[in-house]
Amino acid sequence: MYRLALVLPALFLLAIPVLTQQQSPGTAAQKPSPYAAIPVEASKQQNPVKPSPESTARAKRWWSLDCEMCHGKNGDGKGETAKEMKLTMMDFTNPDTLKDRTDGDVFYIIKNGHNDMPAEGPRVKTEEAWDLVNYVRAFAKKKDADTKTQ
Ligand code: HEC
Repeated sequence: MYRLALVLPALFLLAIPVLTQQQSPGTAAQKPSPYAAIPVEASKQQNPVKPSPESTARAKRWWSLDCEMCHGKNGDGKGETAKEMKLTMMDFTNPDTLKDRTDGDVFYIIKNGHNDMPAEGPRVKTEEAWDLVNYVRAFAKKKDADTKTQ
């Protein structure tokens, strides 16, 4: 009896790595969204700001002040601060990066931050955060247009 009490927990501990390993191939292919915490209403919110040269100009200012040091001037994720902090950055010039995100998701992430991504919070006005959504999306479009003309 005494022995069984020792063996059972040991077996259980052995089973944990096996179970987690078995799960990983599936989860790697269809990563569960790390932003599952985004409220549905926030995710569904429509972007009230149409992309325009004015919107781009407003966003560009904030981008160079608050985003560029991590996400890079062109959105490729190669900013100096990201390098220093050894952050794993995504590449916004790749159209796949944000394809599963709604404008509402991106807006929410900008306003509220996520993990190592700091929240803008009240620093930017609501309209300016939507400008940034347009700006972030444009990195992939620009590259898309570039490859099409090549
Ligand atoms: C300190 C570095 C840092 C700064 C500054 C920063 N970000 Fe981020 N950002 C990150 C990291 C790291 C992530 C990934 C967060 C995670 O773990 O999910 C991220 C994620 C994002 C995402 C979500 C991408 C996805 O997974 O769908 C968007 C959009 C984004 N950032 C936009 C911005 C904008 C716009 C700004 C400026 C207002 C900004 N970021 C400033 C580091 C930064």
